[in-house]
Amino acid sequence: MTRTVSRPAGAHQVPLPLDVEAIRADFPILSRTVRDGKRLVYLDSGATSQKPTSVLDAERWFYENVNAAPHRGAHQLAEEATAAYEAARTTIGAFIGAPENEVVFTRNSTEAINLVAYALSNAVTAKEPEFRRYAVGQGDEIVVTEMEHHANLLPWQQLCERTGATLRWLGLTDDGRLDLSDLATVVNERTKLVAVTQQSNILGTINPLGDIIARAREVGALVLVDGAQSVPHQRVDVTELGVDFLVFSGHKMLGPTGVGVLWGRYDVLDALPPFLTGGSMIEVVRMERSTFMPPPQRFEAGVPMTAQVIGLAAAVEYLQRLGMEAVQAHEEALTEYALEQLQAIPGVTVIGPPDTVARGGAISFTVEGIHPHDVGQVLDDLGIAVRVGHHCAWPVVRRYGVPATTRATFYVHTGYDDVDALVEGVREAQRFFGVAPSEVK
Ligand code: ALA
Repeated sequence: MTRTVSRPAGAHQVPLPLDVEAIRADFPILSRTVRDGKRLVYLDSGATSQKPTSVLDAERWFYENVNAAPHRGAHQLAEEATAAYEAARTTIGAFIGAPENEVVFTRNSTEAINLVAYALSNAVTAKEPEFRRYAVGQGDEIVVTEMEHHANLLPWQQLCERTGATLRWLGLTDDGRLDLSDLATVVNERTKLVAVTQQSNILGTINPLGDIIARAREVGALVLVDGAQSVPHQRVDVTELGVDFLVFSGHKMLGPTGVGVLWGRYDVLDALPPFLTGGSMIEVVRMERSTFMPPPQRFEAGVPMTAQVIGLAAAVEYLQRLGMEAVQAHEEALTEYALEQLQAIPGVTVIGPPDTVARGGAISFTVEGIHPHDVGQVLDDLGIAVRVGHHCAWPVVRRYGVPATTRATFYVHTGYDDVDALVEGVREAQRFFGVAPSEVK
């Protein structure tokens, strides 16, 4: 491929929609230095995001003022903890256009997907006939894509092993997009559920969900959308999406670790048996047998991750103050600039869409002659945090014939200076390993 340098590093195309300096001041960790006094250039928000002060304060506020187990106890603190927990559910639901009774708190996206997968196999042996509606068994098919990260692949593989169902998948095109040429045969009358990511964690691709959802609806299949990499970066509204389940993780959207969300259409959630059982999800418990609460409580056994839920509501409020349209436009401008600058370096190959058409801000690349782990190490020495490896999406790197990639991901505090640091860091890696091109092609 012939590459041209259309503008030098530092010549930025558009002013960034977000005020990066003001935003950085909200993130205490960004003021620390790394590797002997170097500025922290954090380009690993795709793995986990940093947290603004308002999120840290919200968790601290809960522990210092309210701390109690919600939905239990007859004292004032328990009452206030319940109110704060449920108010957070309303805030987080509104962020995705959902009523609170459709929002289930889980540990993360991974647990949310496992919840659905286990509910579908628990349905096979459920004593209650109303919980058997979505039971999965032999002859049924589950459809995923080759683009999924492990969290949206292994739970379905395991579901198929438990039930005798068959796993099928949509493949990838050479330019990092879903290959929908066989959509009509892969998704067919035997399909019980289609699970697909809205935005790839490794390729950055934003998927054309409309075609997949339409086909799933034609055959009566459920649809689960993995929003782990989309909900933090773009406006997502469950009514507009028109699916059955959406999952996302708090820690990737400025919130705490240990909290995620399963959104489900109420009538679908209501027809599912529980995944985890225990306190607070029950109606009546007898030694012989128990009955369960309606959703969302049916799926929230045990004392919940209360401070984390309250922290996640603060993260949502922070994102809402910035505006999700501005967040997306900000990342798109950075992505356009980074793609252009990286692809202008001879020896660098972007794995994934080469431009910003239907693409988010996860940029995976390889550098000819240098293992991705070594690229990561040179960048780390310069204070630049990226992720290297298969990014929990091993089939994707295998599909593109590379052992691993180096991946940069952007967020609200990322500026052009971070991208410039990355680009200069890649050039430094080429010099360090003696593979620097003598001229720009
Ligand atoms: N799936 C997360 C990532 O992309 C962990 O880094």
